[in-house]
Amino acid sequence: MSILLLGGTSDIAGEIATLTCHGEDVVLAARRPEAAQGLAEDLRQRGATSVHVLSFDAQVLDTHRELVKKTQELAGEISLAVVAFGILGDQERAETDETHAVEIATVDYTAQVSMLTVLADELRSQTAPAAIVAFSSIAGWRARRANYVYGSTKAGLDAFCQGLADSLHGTHVRLIIARPGFVIGSMTTGMKPAPMSVYPRDVAAAVVSAYTSKKRSTTLWIPGRLRVLAWIMRMVPRPVWRKMPR
Ligand SMILES: NC(=O)c1ccc[n+]([C@@H]2O[C@H](COP(=O)([O-])OP(=O)(O)OC[C@H]3O[C@@H](n4cnc5c(N)ncnc54)[C@H](OP(=O)(O)O)[C@@H]3O)[C@@H](O)[C@H]2O)c1
Repeated sequence: MSILLLGGTSDIAGEIATLTCHGEDVVLAARRPEAAQGLAEDLRQRGATSVHVLSFDAQVLDTHRELVKKTQELAGEISLAVVAFGILGDQERAETDETHAVEIATVDYTAQVSMLTVLADELRSQTAPAAIVAFSSIAGWRARRANYVYGSTKAGLDAFCQGLADSLHGTHVRLIIARPGFVIGSMTTGMKPAPMSVYPRDVAAAVVSAYTSKKRSTTLWIPGRLRVLAWIMRMVPRPVWRKMPR
């Protein structure tokens, strides 16, 4: 059985791999394969049976199925697939540069829909149970003026994932939908941490706990108490909401 990380240099995916790699064949699919070599070596040291690094650009949609099939050829049936690629993008730039707005929409929504569809299809054809992890975000819960391009992709992705999880119900494939709040890491470098911030290792611990303990699809707020903030967010009147700094 194998573990496939899509976004092989993602902080969160790296932490998930660290927690799950022992005795597994791991495939890191990375836009910059050279930057994933350090993690690959670390995973070998931690007891991964094998680690392969494959080149992967999520925006090239017609390579998605080939990549999943290549993983199965190299490392066998996939037990855990983590769809961790993504960009925050530059909101200010995206408001006047439509190519950048479309880039964010492509990486964070269209490519996710493509890859999740391929994974659900291919993993259903395998013989053993498997889990897919997708990353929604608090940013998609209620889009904010300060971050609405990225937020809208997460809103759409979350809706897609809820339906996909239902479509997988009764099969041996399950979907873990992670909804982290602010994660202190590469994606948020230079930003002031928001209330209830967590680190990539916290997100990984919650995901791996769901992977090892729950045997069905699930949606995880990370941290769990974020669900209270999410409930309050929905109540905030729009004239106040539109002034939220980010
Ligand atoms: N960080 C947060 O605050 C936060 C909060 C909620 C949800 N999330 C979501 O959690 C997921 C993982 O985030 P993270 O914190 O681990 O982010 P990260 O450390 O910035 O990693 C993002 C990964 O996506 C890859 N990537 C970007 N564009 C790509 C493309 N076109 N093709 C292939 N790979 C591409 C990056 O590759 P390069 O290294 O080559 O750039 C990197 O491996 C994302 O979906 C993110 O939106 C993050």
